[in-house]
Amino acid sequence: MPTHQSLSGASDDELLQRMVQTHPERFGPPFWEFFISHVTPVLAPNPVVVDLGCGPGLLLRDLSERCAKAELYGYDVTPAMVAYGRQLAFIGAPPTFAVHDVSADPLPHEAGSVDLVTMSSVLHVIDEPLPMLSEIRRVLAPAGLFLLHDWIRQSLPAYLAWRRDVLKEGPVEYLRRGFRLFPVHNKYTTEDWHWLLGEAGFTIRVETQLRASHRVFVATRL
Ligand SMILES: C[S@@+](CC[C@H](N)C(=O)[O-])C[C@H]1O[C@@H](n2cnc3c(N)ncnc32)[C@H](O)[C@@H]1O
Repeated sequence: MPTHQSLSGASDDELLQRMVQTHPERFGPPFWEFFISHVTPVLAPNPVVVDLGCGPGLLLRDLSERCAKAELYGYDVTPAMVAYGRQLAFIGAPPTFAVHDVSADPLPHEAGSVDLVTMSSVLHVIDEPLPMLSEIRRVLAPAGLFLLHDWIRQSLPAYLAWRRDVLKEGPVEYLRRGFRLFPVHNKYTTEDWHWLLGEAGFTIRVETQLRASHRVFVATRL
């Protein structure tokens, strides 16, 4: 099965560096304004939070700054990502990080025990999203939240221009990577995400678009 890394042509270390470098732009003030408005008020005082495909763990680090009493878990299939997360400093208790293929193995959490599941730029690479969503639904508490942040389809010219102008990729690189990654990053429309979430037994509480490339959905179990 091709991995995100093999699809992008990047090594694990290159993908790690890219995730770290782009983190501040991907999770800047607009993301946290949205989070504080729509997620924080619904969270329990000591929430259990699970980040699936957590990459370098920086979302969990930022979350611990805003919710120091949270019990945090981060799972990623790439050992280099997990190793990076483990050496970060955390305001609250450090997360439990583990190398875990979230599409192949059940999540190590009891049914109904998780207050918030986050998944950022990962679900689009999962070949079969419905079993993954069903597993997320299983571990969520009845009032638990699923925060999905993922790519939405852009036209080919818009996507290539976005790589060139926003990611600042060079004249050769933006075309090479752009054509290779176009089918990966432009897999689902917003309407496809609506359909997938509904089909998996979620209802969308709120959604927004903070960047041309990504959409954020906050969903709960139906
Ligand atoms: C584009 S990165 C996003 C990382 C992080 N969520 C973020 O937004 O910074 C995608 C991450 O998903 C991980 N991943 C892909 N497939 C996975 C799977 N089946 N199980 C666990 N992690 C996976 C990759 O290793 C990579 O770290």
